[in-house]
Amino acid sequence: MLRDTWRGGLALALLLAGSFAAAYSRTDMQEFQLASPTHPWTATRVHRTTGNVQSIHGYRGSRTNSKSVAAILGAHHRRTASTGYENITTTTAYGTQYATVARWGNHSMMMLLDTGSADTWLVWRDFLCTDYYGSEIPQVACGFGPAFPGDFQYGYVTPQQHMYIQYGDGEVVTGPMGYADITVGNITVKRQEVCLANRTYWQGNNMTSGLMGLAWPALTNAYFGPSEPPEDEDHSVGNRVEYSPLFTSMVSQGLVPPVFSIAIDRNSSSGILAWGGIPPASGLDTSRIATMDMIITSLIPVPATASEYSFYTIIPDGWQYDQATDTKKYPYIMDSGTTLCYLPPSLAKAINQAFQPEAVYLWMYSAYFTSCNAIVPPIAVILNGFRFWLNPSDLIYRDMVDPITNLCMTAIASGGDGPYILGDVFMQNALVVFNVGAAQMQFIPREFY
Ligand SMILES: *[C@@H]1O[C@H](CO)[C@@H](O)[C@H](O)[C@H]1NC(C)=O
Ligand SMILES: *[C@@H]1O[C@H](CO)[C@@H](O)[C@H](O)[C@H]1NC(C)=O
Ligand SMILES: *[C@@H]1O[C@H](CO)[C@@H](O)[C@H](O)[C@H]1NC(C)=O
Ligand SMILES: *[C@@H]1O[C@H](CO)[C@@H](O)[C@H](O)[C@H]1NC(C)=O
Ligand SMILES: *[C@@H]1O[C@H](CO)[C@@H](O)[C@H](O)[C@H]1NC(C)=O
Ligand SMILES: *[C@@H]1O[C@H](CO)[C@@H](O)[C@H](O)[C@H]1NC(C)=O
Repeated sequence: MLRDTWRGGLALALLLAGSFAAAYSRTDMQEFQLASPTHPWTATRVHRTTGNVQSIHGYRGSRTNSKSVAAILGAHHRRTASTGYENITTTTAYGTQYATVARWGNHSMMMLLDTGSADTWLVWRDFLCTDYYGSEIPQVACGFGPAFPGDFQYGYVTPQQHMYIQYGDGEVVTGPMGYADITVGNITVKRQEVCLANRTYWQGNNMTSGLMGLAWPALTNAYFGPSEPPEDEDHSVGNRVEYSPLFTSMVSQGLVPPVFSIAIDRNSSSGILAWGGIPPASGLDTSRIATMDMIITSLIPVPATASEYSFYTIIPDGWQYDQATDTKKYPYIMDSGTTLCYLPPSLAKAINQAFQPEAVYLWMYSAYFTSCNAIVPPIAVILNGFRFWLNPSDLIYRDMVDPITNLCMTAIASGGDGPYILGDVFMQNALVVFNVGAAQMQFIPREFY
């Protein structure tokens, strides 16, 4: 019922949207300073020509199959045929995390797929599971799938290095670095530098055994020195050693062109990741392909990020919710490892107030909650002039219920001072192309189902 009512609204909103799109000017903001004590970061729009835009306009108005979609990726893509496809599976019925299988030597391991970090690791058989304070607790409490039973295929990195990473949600993973052949989607990356984690604070899904990080080298977290108790390790900037993460190695070993793309499917195992191209995803609306420059996101604690790409960051044109349009420009990270969308506080609040009944902020969860059968407003992020509607069935998490109020969590959260994030709630509605070679992102809307 809700969905049908909303679809009617969508058609009308799209008609209105056409005139809005023409009315406001494209971004003139070149630099963003979003420093905060917890997440100091800045973002700089990269100045580069966007030759691709012309060719994409050629596709407007015509529905084409996914083969012709590949043409938008440019000449380097057409020249080469090697593309590896891989299934992406949701780890929960509500599509809050996505996983894929990788082969490490002879072992097939289920790993979280994360475009918001760069390190690739598996939990090692004798790992130490700790609580938030670092005290040992039973391994099962970390919620991993089967731990990696083998060893580094080519031994440790010498001199020894270790990985130490703290994720945005507070989870911590550390362990020695070594080399292994990693096979994903039929493509084997030789001697990839990876971590076998032997100490973790982790809240897993009992299914995945580690994480595959697909962001840029500037976000890698290896440090000189062996893996030791954290208080004996040096995680200072001067001790950091950048290395080539999985996708970078895949490209530099000549295995695929510098592009990968992701189409995740809520509540199913039919999502697809394509290494080196575009997957044969169904339901693509190729009349609306948005092309955006990737921008440089500078993390103040990591000097390398001032001049190199780190996250997959774009600057959307704005947001539409109900009848309102907000065109303030902020950088957003494309992060398959984050479930919700994190927006600037005032916008998050305004969108949550458009739910009926309006969603209220519950500070215990740092999230907004509303009635579990609330009416959801149409919400779209505007990319390259096109509205990418979020599927209304994803906007209320019906299994995230506050036991006191019996309210359900919404998918639009406040990102404080940043970084702002387009998480799975957004990615579930589009084929997202990470065109690393062109330093561009492309988005193709998919039909709701
Ligand atoms: C991917 O999914 C398809 C369809 O569900 C299935 O036939 C295929 O075996 C899967 N491939 C892998 C490598 O799991
Ligand atoms: C997920 O799919 C299963 C089986 O197709 C269905 O029973 C379940 O209700 C779905 N869950 C959600 C949250 O849509
Ligand atoms: C993988 O298995 C094959 C056959 O059992 C064996 O010969 C090979 O050494 C194994 N490779 C690794 C890295 O364990
Ligand atoms: C993987 O490679 C083998 C041999 O090259 C090929 O037969 C098979 O179809 C490929 N599978 C996929 C999923 O690309
Ligand atoms: C994982 O399994 C443990 C032990 O069986 C259980 O307590 C926990 O709730 C499970 N976690 C998830 C996310 O399913
Ligand atoms: C982790 O691995 C390193 C290197 O092999 C070792 O020195 C350290 O004791 C291990 N830590 C744990 C908790 O197993």
